[in-house]
Amino acid sequence: MIIAVDGPSASGKGSVSRRIAAQLGLPYLDTGLLYRAVARDMLDQGLPLDDEDAAVRAAKSLDLDGLDDPRLRERRMGEAASRVAASPAVREALLELQRDFAHRPGGAVLDGRDIGTVVCPGADVKLYITASAEERAHRRYLELRDRGEHVDEDEIYQDILKRDHRDQERSAAPLRKADDAHLLDTTNLDIEQAFKAALGLINAARAPRRSGDGS
Ligand code: CDP
Ligand code: CDP
Repeated sequence: MIIAVDGPSASGKGSVSRRIAAQLGLPYLDTGLLYRAVARDMLDQGLPLDDEDAAVRAAKSLDLDGLDDPRLRERRMGEAASRVAASPAVREALLELQRDFAHRPGGAVLDGRDIGTVVCPGADVKLYITASAEERAHRRYLELRDRGEHVDEDEIYQDILKRDHRDQERSAAPLRKADDAHLLDTTNLDIEQAFKAALGLINAARAPRRSGDGS
């Protein structure tokens, strides 16, 4: 069973996806980390983020085992990731790895921007998780503050607007809700409520098939 979760920055898609995966006993891939890791490798080598050939090389040599680097969560990595992610060639270079992960026996949960539209258009369940930009900026501000990165909340809000715009307006796999995705607005939900709402949508989406296919 493949569960595709998409949505903008700090909508809560990672928190929800991790819990859903644990609840259903499925492996989970945060695909944003792949783009963050490409950006990190470029920055570490002092390469400009618009050097597409170098970004493709970094994407092709990515190792899933290296995604637990705490630096990937830094604010500047999110910004840099959205710049390398605008390249169709970089996206193409990361596609197979994501699809291989999704098609493991038993299934998987993946979250990102284009999972339901490009990576796994045939996913069994698709969720599009969102929240107001103000609420997302507040969440990200608290998260970075707790991690010791002190930044002005309004700067984070501006980051979020800029990133939403870049992710939605790019020509390659822009962020958008797949037509068959279930919309979940978490503006007024805490993580537990968002998780329960997501689980409810997943169970409801699976129920007709379960009774229809006799399994
Ligand atoms: O993966 P994504 O960037 O969409 O968001 P996340 O990493 O799941 O959540 C961003 C921050 O918001 C984390 O610190 C979560 O704990 C927090 N959060 C929240 O306060 N309420 C929610 N309903 C969802 C997430
Ligand atoms: O945690 P947050 O939602 O802020 O960002 P992320 O999910 O780690 O993604 C960082 C950036 O990578 C996004 O702004 C997107 O530009 C890009 N990304 C993408 O293009 N496609 C994906 N499937 C996942 C991330």
